[in-house]
Parts: sequence; C-alpha cells; structure tokens
Amino acid sequence: MKKYGILANPAKHSLSPAMHNAAFKELRMRAHYEIFEVPENELAKFMKSVRNERIEGLSVSLPYKETIIQYLDKTNKDALKIGAVNTIVNKEGFLYGFNTDYLASNKALFLDPSARNIPKDPLAIVIGGGGAARAVCYGLLKMGINVVVANRTREKADAIAIEFAELFHDSEIHSSSLEDLGTGDILINTTSIWTKEPGISVRNLPYFCDREYVKEFKLIMDICYKPLETPLIKMAKRLEKGFVTGEKMLLYQALDQFELWTGKKAPMEVMRAALEEGLKNSGC
Ligand code: ATR
Repeated sequence: MKKYGILANPAKHSLSPAMHNAAFKELRMRAHYEIFEVPENELAKFMKSVRNERIEGLSVSLPYKETIIQYLDKTNKDALKIGAVNTIVNKEGFLYGFNTDYLASNKALFLDPSARNIPKDPLAIVIGGGGAARAVCYGLLKMGINVVVANRTREKADAIAIEFAELFHDSEIHSSSLEDLGTGDILINTTSIWTKEPGISVRNLPYFCDREYVKEFKLIMDICYKPLETPLIKMAKRLEKGFVTGEKMLLYQALDQFELWTGKKAPMEVMRAALEEGLKNSGC
C-alpha cells in the first residue's frame, strides 16, 4: 500500500484526502492518502520519516509552504521563484518540491467559460501579499498578463512587485495600497479575510468588494472556498459578472499533484465530485 498525505497544521478539515482517495479508488491503486497534522517543533523529525517510512508524496499547506523548501533535495525552478512548495514527490528517498498552485490559478480563471469576455491584453488586480498572492501573480505574469498587486500591508505588495518585475520581461507588475486601487479587467482575492473575519458586516467590507469598484471588471475570482460564496463573489453575482469560486483552484492544484505522484492522468470528474461532497458536508 503506497502512502500519501497532506502536511499542514491545522490539517483536520482538509478536503484533499477526499479528492485523492477517490482518485486512488477509481484507478484501483493500492494507495492511501492521510492527514499529517504536524506541529512546528516536530517538522524536522517528520521530514526524516517521510524519507525513511516511504511516504511517496505530500501536499503541503499552511503554514509550511515556504519553510519546507529547506528540507528538500531539489526544488523546481517555478516553485523556487514563487518561494513556496505545495507538492513533494519522494523518488527513492530523494525529495523533489513543486508548486502546482500557479498553474491551477491560471486554469481556474482561463478555462472558465466567462474568460471569453476578457479583452486582449487584460490587466489583473490581485489582492493579497502572502504565498497565495505570489503564486497567482506568478501564473498571470508567466502568461504575459500585466498585474497590479495590492495588500493591506503595502510593503509586502511592493516586495512582490520588485521581485517579480525582475523575472518577467513580457509582462509588468506594479503594486498598490488597498485604499487607492485602480481598476482592471480581472479581479482576484487571495487574502484570508473571509476565514479570519467570517462575520464581517457589509459596512466593514474592504473597498475591493464595493459595487462601484467591482462593476468595472469582466471576471472576478476569489480563491477562498470556506465559504464558497464570499462577499466578493456575492457582489460579482449581483452585478452579473463572470465569477470563479475557490474550489476550482483547489481542484486543479490537486489534479496536477496526483499526476506528479503517480504519472497517471487524474480522474477529474471523480475528484470534482468528491470535493463537492466534502464542501457540502463541511457547510461551505
Ligand atoms: P497565504 O499563504 O494563503 O497567502 P498568508 O501568507 O497568511 O496566507 O497571507 C494572508 C493574506 O491575507 C495577507 O495578504 C494578509 O494581509 P497582511 O499582509 O496585511 O497581513 C491578508 N489579510 C488577512 N486578513 C485581512 C483583512 N482583514 N483585510 C485585508 N487583508 C487581509
């Protein structure tokens, strides 16, 4: 029986076991995906056991996407530039790191039917300054799309813009504060605001959810999936805009992980159904 799992803390409510175990079952593979909820002070010991006890592959989530890099033997260059790994492949004790989030973000956006309404050479406004913002910005820039990144703590947005501007020459990135945001064609929320402030009142919503602001955009994505219908998504719906909810990126990053681990094509519909069931059961 091959062993896979998610490394995170907390990890108990992860929807990844449902998706990956459904895929293993569908392909009749002798494999199982588990939850590894590891506290910070046990991370080094755990990573040793990944090599020795032959855990074949790991998903990595909060808070370890950045710190995990030091425990790996080789990290793919996109993951290094993003500064975050969300996928580990164990090849006979040699640990490889990848990032499947940035392509997942691109797929969630551009495979959506409403992406047809995006003009040529669009401008994307990305809200956030954490690891998720970095992956989303990186994906867009790699597609040649210009980006403005805006964060509550302005310095983090500035740092992303300076760093990524040096990497890409066919697309541009600038930074902004949340207060004087300019408009664009694609609006993406990557912040954890809905998780951190679940009961936020309409009066206290940030400006990027404002009717007058959102109405300027063609396509709106929120990567949050708890809840799926965030205040931003609600506004996009009310304005009859194209919108992409957070479970899409979650699904696409898992499909690519599965393929990296197994070399097999991931059974997308089976994994999508397992994810939808999991979301329903957790009240999203
Ligand atoms: P991730 O790796 O998922 O991006 P993270 O590094 O913790 O997670 O980043 C969370 C992001 O959500 C940050 O950009 C944070 O803004 P700060 O850098 O100012 O902390 C943003 N965020 C969290 N709560 C927020 C809130 N109430 N309003 C605006 N932004 C918020």
